[in-house]
Amino acid sequence: MKKLAIYTLVAAFCGSAVYAFSAADKAAEPAPAAAAAAKEPVVCFESRKGASEITQQEIKPGLPNVKCSPTTGAALWYGDPYEGTVPMGKMPMLEKLPEGHAVVKPRSEKLALMPMCGTACHNGVGPNANPPTLPKDKRAKPNPTMEAMVPDLANLQHGRGRIWCMDCHHTTKRNMLVDHYGDPVSFDQPQLLCGKCHGDKLRDWRDGIHGKRIGDFTSTGKKRWFTCTECHNPHNVQDGARNRGFVQLQPEPSPQLPKGMKDAKHELMHPIPH
Ligand code: HEC
Ligand code: HEC
Ligand code: HEC
Repeated sequence: MKKLAIYTLVAAFCGSAVYAFSAADKAAEPAPAAAAAAKEPVVCFESRKGASEITQQEIKPGLPNVKCSPTTGAALWYGDPYEGTVPMGKMPMLEKLPEGHAVVKPRSEKLALMPMCGTACHNGVGPNANPPTLPKDKRAKPNPTMEAMVPDLANLQHGRGRIWCMDCHHTTKRNMLVDHYGDPVSFDQPQLLCGKCHGDKLRDWRDGIHGKRIGDFTSTGKKRWFTCTECHNPHNVQDGARNRGFVQLQPEPSPQLPKGMKDAKHELMHPIPH
């Protein structure tokens, strides 16, 4: 009986160890019925659920490019922070950074509709001809086709009625955003768009106070910068009744205490009174 209990314990421990160390494998573990789908790639999200996913691959045998939380599916750890990145492009005030030391993940490949916008519909022909006749009241005409494609557009939750589509999207080049001078901006550099209205946030982001960077933490070291749209959904920054700029994620449970430790009260003992 006792032996059995130990075996169970060992099995449980191994189970949880495998679970903890290889969350991704666990997620990919086939349900008995779907053994055939065993090789489904593991996809976890980085910041914006549903819009900033990363597919798990091996950099070297046994070394994944990313590990995901088994609880939330969020990226926990990066084997290669630069995987899939490209140089950030020109950024005012960051000229001093050595070439190629600021990199980003392109947004374009996440935007399924973008390649079509300027060819299939806003192509200068027919009712959506460019330049379109823009309404004077900055209200987008209800457009069921558009709303079916991007449901968040039915009731734009950004700016509380003060801004609309063409404050952000270029009028004649629909697969581009627009900067403060009316010049086109790439979807991969949304900071140049957002910064025209949120200058304070752009400065904070540039200084490393807002947003996130991963990589080499020397001041001029190579880093991957997370761009604004990797965290914020530009068509909904209000998050309903919460009325704040970020759709909140379910937090991870607190980590387990190290073996033999009964509580973490020592952490309350701080040498500096606060
Ligand atoms: C605050 C700026 C802003 C406003 C206002 C705005 N958009 Fe966007 N839109 C963006 C950005 C930035 C993206 C790219 C999002 C990303 O990278 O995830 C985008 C993406 C899109 C896409 C592509 C989605 C896809 O998955 O390919 C469509 C279509 C679109 N917007 C239409 C509209 C329409 C129509 C309106 C007005 C009702 C509008 N947008 C208002 C900034 C804006
Ligand atoms: C044309 C101007 C304009 C642009 C461009 C713009 N915003 Fe906004 N944004 C606003 C306004 C106006 C508000 C509402 C502020 C308020 O009511 O206090 C707002 C609100 C927000 C909020 C929520 C803050 C709040 O209290 O509601 C976030 C987050 C935000 N914007 C992020 C972005 C991001 C990310 C981009 C780029 C994709 C962007 N904005 C581009 C004008 C803009
Ligand atoms: C790594 C994720 C991340 C990135 C990248 C990021 N933000 Fe944010 N942002 C947040 C979070 C989290 C909040 C807090 C929102 C809340 O209170 O719920 C926030 C808040 C904001 C707010 C609202 C602040 C307020 O007072 O309510 C604005 C505006 C904003 N961000 C703009 C930007 C702009 C512009 C960029 C790009 C230059 C950017 N953010 C990049 C995560 C991010």
